[in-house]
Amino acid sequence: MKKQIKLNAFDMACVGHIQQGMWRHPRDQATQYNTLDYWIRLARTLERGLFDGLFLADVLGVYDVYGGSPDAAIREAAQVPLLDPMLLVPAMAAATEHLGFGITCNLAYEAPYLFARRMSTLDHLTKGRAGWNIVTGYLDSAARAMGLSAQMAHDDRYDLADEYMELVYRLWEGSWGADARSAGAAMGAYADPSRIRRVRHDGAQYKLDAIHLVEPSPQRTPVLFQAGASDRGRRFAARHAECVFVNGGPKPGVAQLVADLRARAGARPLCVMVGATLIVGRTEAEARNKLEDYRRHASVEGALAHASASLGIDFARYGMDEPVQSGPTQAIQSNVEAMARAAGPAWTKRKLIDQFVLGSRQPPVVGSAEQVADALMQWMDEADVDGFNLSRTVMPECLEDVVELIVPILQERGVFKRAYAPGTYRDKLFGAGALLQPPHPAAHSRFEG
Ligand SMILES: Cc1cc2nc3c(=O)[nH]c(=O)nc-3n(C[C@H](O)[C@H](O)[C@H](O)COP(=O)(O)O)c2cc1C
Repeated sequence: MKKQIKLNAFDMACVGHIQQGMWRHPRDQATQYNTLDYWIRLARTLERGLFDGLFLADVLGVYDVYGGSPDAAIREAAQVPLLDPMLLVPAMAAATEHLGFGITCNLAYEAPYLFARRMSTLDHLTKGRAGWNIVTGYLDSAARAMGLSAQMAHDDRYDLADEYMELVYRLWEGSWGADARSAGAAMGAYADPSRIRRVRHDGAQYKLDAIHLVEPSPQRTPVLFQAGASDRGRRFAARHAECVFVNGGPKPGVAQLVADLRARAGARPLCVMVGATLIVGRTEAEARNKLEDYRRHASVEGALAHASASLGIDFARYGMDEPVQSGPTQAIQSNVEAMARAAGPAWTKRKLIDQFVLGSRQPPVVGSAEQVADALMQWMDEADVDGFNLSRTVMPECLEDVVELIVPILQERGVFKRAYAPGTYRDKLFGAGALLQPPHPAAHSRFEG
């Protein structure tokens, strides 16, 4: 059987996500992001197209690096206003049966005990369709909002995350024995207290002494996503991630990154998804017209506000042709590296803006459905990725186009499923059971019973 393409919709509970300015398009409905109807419709569309998952990004601060102020981001709705993504999921889960949910949650500002309970709750309510994109944030604005003067240094954030993961694994996997309920029933109790362990931890960053408040959910540990690709980020991914989300960009660079991630993960299977924006038509001409139509609404200011925050560089301070100083960043190092790969070491604001085909640095793949399907298959072969995280343009038509025009072609070519596999999100993605297996560290924490 040919390698099957995985498809995720990449979204965020806000108006302007990656392609800034699209909300000004008369047909765009993203301004309805604060209604359940909008999200339920989206989830149903994705399930109709057999999408594997909806991947929801999140940040906990505003983009205020550009010009030292949040004004540009606010004017352009660049990821502000922004809702809590976790709260959208139960309604979407109730309206679907198979779609997975990869939810970004920043661990840096929340006690592992509280977060583990919320995620277990979601895994129960979705019948095992919860995933977690593990992030530690990249914004000083989030740190200030939480009473700190600045965020932790880049690599220290990953150390913090390693300790956090150990704790949540122990809560999800090691607190309740698999037989706590059956052993309880045998004695006329709800659960057998002797089959529930306290988790005790006294570490560099966290202290904990508690049982997990939630009985085991279908997957115990949600499907784990990670998206940082610096050297330290890759080390973290190799230990913890099941799915890795990588930025697009020139294929050879992505292929190298994917090969390195797979080598580091060793025997563990990794599902690698690459970011992509698709503009598809019934003909190439229709797609090109659509691009021109969308482009009229693209926001350079919104894209600069977003890029400044994720790269950790204030582009408002530079003239168009002034060389940009890109020293070590405390923001997303792999984004700075990707920028340097695309524009060369001596890059300027003009070179950055030249990359904004729509409203971001992610150039769209534009063409007829056959051409776009060809491009996706080339990515699979040449960069050894497992699938795509599709950024939105004009909602919901961009996703309806994928469902109606691209999915049938991929199915005909034998590279996309015709029905969902049964089971949890992890079963569907990897076909190896609902629970994480050794050598993943979560499996070592399990209280089998
Ligand atoms: C494609 C991609 C998507 C990301 N999405 C988010 C996000 O939604 N929220 C967030 O706080 N960080 C996000 N990040 C940041 C990273 O997950 C990571 O925590 C951090 O910025 C360090 O990345 P680095 O190892 O590449 O330096 C994303 C990074 C990449 C490359």
